[in-house]
Amino acid sequence: MSIQPVELSKAYRLLQVGPTTMISSKYNGIEDVMAAAWVGIGGPGKVIAYIGKQAYTRQLIEKSGYFVVHIPVADQMETVLYVGEHSLATMPDKNKHIPFFYQEGFDLPMVKGCAGYLICKVIPHPENEKELDLFLGETVAAWSDTRVFRDGHWHFDEAPEGLRTVHYVAGGQFYRIGKGTKFDHGPGKD
Ligand SMILES: Cc1cc2nc3c(=O)[nH]c(=O)nc-3n(C[C@H](O)[C@H](O)[C@H](O)COP(=O)(O)O)c2cc1C
Repeated sequence: MSIQPVELSKAYRLLQVGPTTMISSKYNGIEDVMAAAWVGIGGPGKVIAYIGKQAYTRQLIEKSGYFVVHIPVADQMETVLYVGEHSLATMPDKNKHIPFFYQEGFDLPMVKGCAGYLICKVIPHPENEKELDLFLGETVAAWSDTRVFRDGHWHFDEAPEGLRTVHYVAGGQFYRIGKGTKFDHGPGKD
């Protein structure tokens, strides 16, 4: 697997498909990662994420001012469920077996094997964060696994089945993204 930078103007497309995500952060040497389904596009170059007060990761985001949105794939579902079902607050060695790596220039843990990554700098809105648990971030860097996202587009139909994004519904039910369908008109020609 090789990840390559995604042009920032196209990075929103990683989230356009509405995937279940993971969110990580780090502060003072403490790394954490959580599952997060309520994450989406917050306007051009921006991400919006609902991060509840139960999440220890939130404290790291509040202190560091940064978070990483991961776009995990079907092959990683056990990891997604694991990080969503355990908290660093009650399990100090939660992340012992999580395969973190780092990209140059960013002291932020990233989980190996995802289809995409967006590094987000918090745009502070203390009231929204406190009252609504909503965090807005500006995307400052992004990468993708080029087997499945390249040239600013998803290529699920040509990629291995295990690289499909996963979409949460409810009650433990997820869907893998399906087969593509394309129209010769509509938005976003480039
Ligand atoms: C599929 C899935 C989706 C989740 N989505 C969210 C979410 O959007 N926002 C949130 O605050 N918690 C969400 N959670 C719960 C957190 O991942 C969970 O509280 C986690 O234990 C937090 O880890 P931490 O305390 O180590 O940060 C989700 C969990 C799962 C399993």
